[in-house]
Amino acid sequence: MLNFSFSNSTRIHFGEGQIQAISKEIPVSAKVLLVYGGGSIKQNGIYDQLMPVLAKHTVIEFSGIEPNPSYDTLMKAQALITDHEVDYILAVGGGSVVDGAKFIAAAACYKGDDPWDVIAKRQKVLEALPLGVVLTLPATGSESNTVSVVTRNGHKGTFSSPFVRPLFAVLDPVVTLSLSDCQIGNGVVDAFVHTMEQYLTYSVNAKVQDRFAEGLLQTLIEEGPKALAAESKNDIEVRANIMWSASLALNGLIGAGVPQDWTSHMIGHELTALHGIDHARTLSIMLPAVLKVRRAVKREKLLQYAERVWGITSGNDEVRIDQAIAATETFFKSMGLPTSLKDINLDATHIDALLANLTKHGMVKLGEQAEITPAISREILETAL
Ligand code: NZQ
Ligand code: ZN
Repeated sequence: MLNFSFSNSTRIHFGEGQIQAISKEIPVSAKVLLVYGGGSIKQNGIYDQLMPVLAKHTVIEFSGIEPNPSYDTLMKAQALITDHEVDYILAVGGGSVVDGAKFIAAAACYKGDDPWDVIAKRQKVLEALPLGVVLTLPATGSESNTVSVVTRNGHKGTFSSPFVRPLFAVLDPVVTLSLSDCQIGNGVVDAFVHTMEQYLTYSVNAKVQDRFAEGLLQTLIEEGPKALAAESKNDIEVRANIMWSASLALNGLIGAGVPQDWTSHMIGHELTALHGIDHARTLSIMLPAVLKVRRAVKREKLLQYAERVWGITSGNDEVRIDQAIAATETFFKSMGLPTSLKDINLDATHIDALLANLTKHGMVKLGEQAEITPAISREILETAL
């Protein structure tokens, strides 16, 4: 196992009705900026549940954070923060709203010229406003991690800081019942790929991390399709298992002390930035291609994955690896996601621009060994055709 330091300080309030916990989490004296997205929280009743809980607080609202939140939208919140002396942020939504809130929280305290520099120039975040979350879409793990993904002028970039880790997060699986099938599928696959990118590298004999990761993968494989099937769609236990899996997939636990390979995410971000493809739908295309192109370096783990996650035990090594990758693709398809660039109407003519952006954004040494050059990324994209 590799050395690591681990802590996750986000207090999780999990289960039906836990939104009530917010009244004790946020000091009554706080001036709260309530941030949300395009309005789903008003349609599905979360807003109506929330407002009585915040009855004693001063609340200012900022809505309109879009999927793949944009810098321009987020910077509009800064004037509200100054005008109303906001000192607490409450994000209510999916990963985009939570990530947007993290950027707003950091930007409010940023002393340099332009807060975008925390992404573009890797400037350190030294301070941020306190942040709480009500999660409405299980997928990203953003509700208890330090990462935020923001887009500006075609650059989908990330920053990470312990100062933007949410202080608390409410995870009520009931609020996920209003998700569309597309968003359910996206969430399950995003969480699955997060797990894979911290698991499917090379072995460092990290037995606990491996078995936790395998447990998350198996849970998502078992419960994901149930959340789409008519007879089990409204089963809260199914939703609860998905919600907790997605959170644990990227809260730092399974990634501690193991090598990681975020290639699918990095190429995927360029697909979203250039072609507007939903985040998870870029991953369902890229992960199988990454596994195919990198099968030699990932061989030992691919065999472990085949046996422990999919129960594949017969056939020679190559056959078992082929079957495991095919099973992964079949699972993504069963969740309604694409598995090739053709599925999203892209072809070989789109590859150069994707690679140019990848290079422009410094993504030239990807993978667990930093060996994936733009030439190998090309091979991966060609394999994904
Ligand atoms: O905006 P509203 O109206 O709320 O609608 C949203 C949005 O249109 C809707 N939605 C959310 N909860 C709902 C709901 N609709 C009905 N009922 C509910 N309960 O779903 C749509 C998509 O929401 P979004 O927040 O964009 O989805 P997701 O949670 O998948 O977040 C994706 C973003 O997270 C980033 C992605 O890159 C992308 O920008 N990621 C963040 C990570 C992190 N911070 O650690 C890691 C991930 O790998 C990922 O990159
Ligand atoms: Zn993701």
